[in-house]
Amino acid sequence: MKIIMLGAPGAGKGTQAKMIADKYHVPHISTGDIFRANIKNGTELGMEAKKYMDQGLLVPDELTVKILLDRVGQDDCKEGYVLDGFPRTIPQAEVLDKALANLGESIDYAIDVDVPDENIVERMSGRRACVSCGATYHLKHVPPKKEGICDKCGNELLLRDDDKPDTVLNRLKVYHDQTQPLIQFYGNKGVLKTVDGTQAMEDVFRSIIAILEN
Ligand code: AP5
Ligand code: MG
Repeated sequence: MKIIMLGAPGAGKGTQAKMIADKYHVPHISTGDIFRANIKNGTELGMEAKKYMDQGLLVPDELTVKILLDRVGQDDCKEGYVLDGFPRTIPQAEVLDKALANLGESIDYAIDVDVPDENIVERMSGRRACVSCGATYHLKHVPPKKEGICDKCGNELLLRDDDKPDTVLNRLKVYHDQTQPLIQFYGNKGVLKTVDGTQAMEDVFRSIIAILEN
């Protein structure tokens, strides 16, 4: 099962992708998480990606595509995967398509988690992420048991650098300009499914399962 999560920044792609990956035992692959891990480890790739991420801009396709193709070529991806945050541009989608076609494969579902811009800033400013394991919380919707501490690994929770309101507005603009056209791209391929992302998390997940198990 090969799934792509589409949706604006903060729509809940990561939240749902983790739940899908757990339920169906496939890897959750987030290019944003890969970049953040590289930033944390001070790698060259991380330093380069940070320049763009801090401004709410996309990391150039040349850097992003290679990382993603390497990752989906690994053994644990043989039975499928959930891609979260990739593709984000039409050229990225085309490269992925070609790489899959060479293997006689294709994407099964592109799930668009639909949330209007008005809801996004509130979601992002309340998000807290674990610096160590990447678990995500929300001060109002999914609070950790102990303030500022990850329930799963006990490490510190932080506001992501790119979740400050000005950067969020930039990310939304970039989303509308460069990523939203993918909705039509996957619609034309007949694999697009849309879920209402303004529902409670469990209800969004139920809608997704209904699509996958239909
Ligand atoms: P990335 O990490 O992918 O960020 P994003 O797409 O901006 O999306 P987010 O992770 O912010 O949101 P999400 O949809 O995962 O929402 P979440 O589940 O956390 O990318 C970051 C940056 O990396 C990019 O800006 C770019 O620079 C670079 N990058 C990454 N991939 C790239 C690529 N392919 N090409 C080029 N550059 C790339 O939920 C948000 C919050 O809401 C959480 O607090 C959560 O608890 C809460 N929440 C979730 N669902 C609900 C619900 N149903 N109700 C209430 N609250 C909810
Ligand atoms: Mg995410």
